[in-house]
Amino acid sequence: MSTVRVEKKESYAIVTVDRPEALNALNEDVLNDLHAATQDLSQTPGCRAMLLTGAGEKAFVAGADIAAMEQFTPNEALKFAELGHRTMNAISSSELISIALINGFALGGGLELALACDIRLAGANARMGLPEVTLGLLPGFGGTQRLPRVVGRGLALEMILSGDMIDAGRAYEIGLVNRVLEGDLLAEAEKYVSKMLEYKSGAAQRAARWALHAGMDLPLTAGLQKEIHQFSELFSGSDPQKGMAAFLAKQKPEFES
Ligand code: CAA
Repeated sequence: MSTVRVEKKESYAIVTVDRPEALNALNEDVLNDLHAATQDLSQTPGCRAMLLTGAGEKAFVAGADIAAMEQFTPNEALKFAELGHRTMNAISSSELISIALINGFALGGGLELALACDIRLAGANARMGLPEVTLGLLPGFGGTQRLPRVVGRGLALEMILSGDMIDAGRAYEIGLVNRVLEGDLLAEAEKYVSKMLEYKSGAAQRAARWALHAGMDLPLTAGLQKEIHQFSELFSGSDPQKGMAAFLAKQKPEFES
């Protein structure tokens, strides 16, 4: 039985980590199931985005599975970290827009999972942190690298070295989450993703997202070249023509992708 539930909608899918009895902690099964779901959705025609959340009222994901890691040898720890990175990288490098809906605790590997996503939305009850040092560990699923790229080096060091949790308001203040949602979280997040997709060219979104992600790992001049290339490539499809013709005719665009 899968530890991850996938609900496919017309243009996006809701992916729910489903281990509420362990606050959705990431063990090998969850990491493999998340990887498989990402691959499957990437190949699903028409699926442009993935909304990732956790089952139950309390947690998005409360981290890597502590019980599973307790007796690790260095080699087992290496394999587990590599497996975690494989899943996080599959999410960040897939063609899907990835949105984490942080509906409670996002700790350790849970926050790292959210950091592998393009966008983070939080419920008012969300609590986030990288408490690994309190367990004698370090963030092993990308946190030492992705967190400073989102909030800056000083704030990332503070979170990693203190292990302290922050609430949704503070996470918004430091740019760790894009929005704090009120009310029915899933319904609000679905409205958010629908609005992001509606009347937008999927090809243009994929190209922009790719240029941004690829460019962030490069010197500015090389990143700018990626943008020029992607801009030109778009014109080999029909979306620029459709989008601009619709604008000039004062109509809503109907894109191919
Ligand atoms: N791994 C395994 N089980 C976990 C877990 C985790 N990360 N987090 C929670 N659970 C389990 C608990 O053991 C408990 O199980 P039992 O009912 O069988 O005892 C169940 O989930 C409910 O948890 P609590 O009773 O602790 O719930 P709470 O409301 O009192 O506390 C919490 C909630 C503050 C999130 C607390 O559970 C907690 O601190 N969890 C651990 C958070 C953490 O340290 N995460 C980092 C893990 S290390 C990591 O992620 C390394 C890496 O980067 C790769």
